[in-house]
Amino acid sequence: MRAVVKENAGKGAVLKEVEMPVLEEGEVLIKIKAAAICGTDQHIYNWNNWAQNNNINLPTILGHECSAEVVEVGLGVKTLKVGDYVACETHIPCGQCFQCKNGQQHICQNLKIFGVHTNGCFAEYSKIPAVCAVKIPESIHPNVGAVLEPLGTAVRANEEIQTSGKNIAVIGCGPIGLMAISTAKAFGAVNIYAVDINEYRLEIAKKLGATEIINSSVVNSAEKLKEFTHGVGVDAFIDASGNTFAILDGFKGLRKGGKVALIGLPSRPLEIELGSQVIFKEATVIGIHGRRMFETWTTMSNLLDKGLLNIDPVITHVLKLEEFDEGFDISEKGIGGKVILVP
Ligand SMILES: NC(=O)c1ccc[n+]([C@@H]2O[C@H](COP(=O)([O-])OP(=O)(O)OC[C@H]3O[C@@H](n4cnc5c(N)ncnc54)[C@H](O)[C@@H]3O)[C@@H](O)[C@H]2O)c1
Ligand SMILES: [Zn+2]
Ligand SMILES: [Zn+2]
Repeated sequence: MRAVVKENAGKGAVLKEVEMPVLEEGEVLIKIKAAAICGTDQHIYNWNNWAQNNNINLPTILGHECSAEVVEVGLGVKTLKVGDYVACETHIPCGQCFQCKNGQQHICQNLKIFGVHTNGCFAEYSKIPAVCAVKIPESIHPNVGAVLEPLGTAVRANEEIQTSGKNIAVIGCGPIGLMAISTAKAFGAVNIYAVDINEYRLEIAKKLGATEIINSSVVNSAEKLKEFTHGVGVDAFIDASGNTFAILDGFKGLRKGGKVALIGLPSRPLEIELGSQVIFKEATVIGIHGRRMFETWTTMSNLLDKGLLNIDPVITHVLKLEEFDEGFDISEKGIGGKVILVP
């Protein structure tokens, strides 16, 4: 089969013929319908510091976000059959640790990530533990199915901070922030203030239903959030920028008693005045690592199936698998939303 392989250190990857995956007990073979490029793939493609320090064995097949069809089931698999339409949950739990046994397998202590610690899905076929192949409604287009994994973090953030009926800010309008805006809209947030430094992405935010867009390279976003909320501050914010300055401004624009969901991964420690920004404010802060398995998936599927959540504008490019270099280039430059690769 054809696959995009990261062969060795240094930038780039190659498309080549590789052996078909061989199933082990509890796994399923999947035929990829569509896959999406994520920041994590970009790190591995570029072989930056993060990639070098994350126990990634080379050579490896890139990609972890995809929709697919089950074409073979391994020994012991009873929950899936050939022909099932699935999307991949990338968090591979051990099933044995404290978290796995206590309803938090998405943050398993021995967590492995599909397409990071295993061969991934920028290929014609891949294999994954059956527990991570989530059946999805046929009404969901394969290109949308391919981005359910990142969409799930956005849905989860909205659930945790209860955006219904609230004034919220979404900081960072990359694919995940944009999907957080769509979800906030679907959840019935009253006002959604989108913050970014990239005009192109802020325009997509507007299209998705953001009430106001704030270019924080031009104006002070904390002051704007206060101004829009008559001096009170927003009820909650979701950070999907991972930028420490932007996160601090989010706290400054948050009202007393407000809630914060952190998705973005800062590349350095954040220094925050806990007294004024968290303690006296009684802020609730929650970290989001992926999706709850599988409540978030159920919510997502239901909303998409009923047409209550629209993320189509987030998908800006659909390319052939062999055009992966162009896809990585588009993602890196931040000139698109989500880039899809179709094998
Ligand atoms: N927690 C998780 O489970 C999880 C999963 C996947 C990705 N992530 C992280 O989530 C974040 C978002 O992912 P993405 O794919 O949308 O990334 P992305 O890099 O495409 O988006 C980040 C956005 O933040 C904007 N930004 C940068 N500096 C800013 C600033 N000072 N103020 C406002 N906006 C600013 C950028 O212009 C960009 O649009 C990343 O940090 C990623 O590493 C977390
Ligand atoms: Zn991803
Ligand atoms: Zn575990």
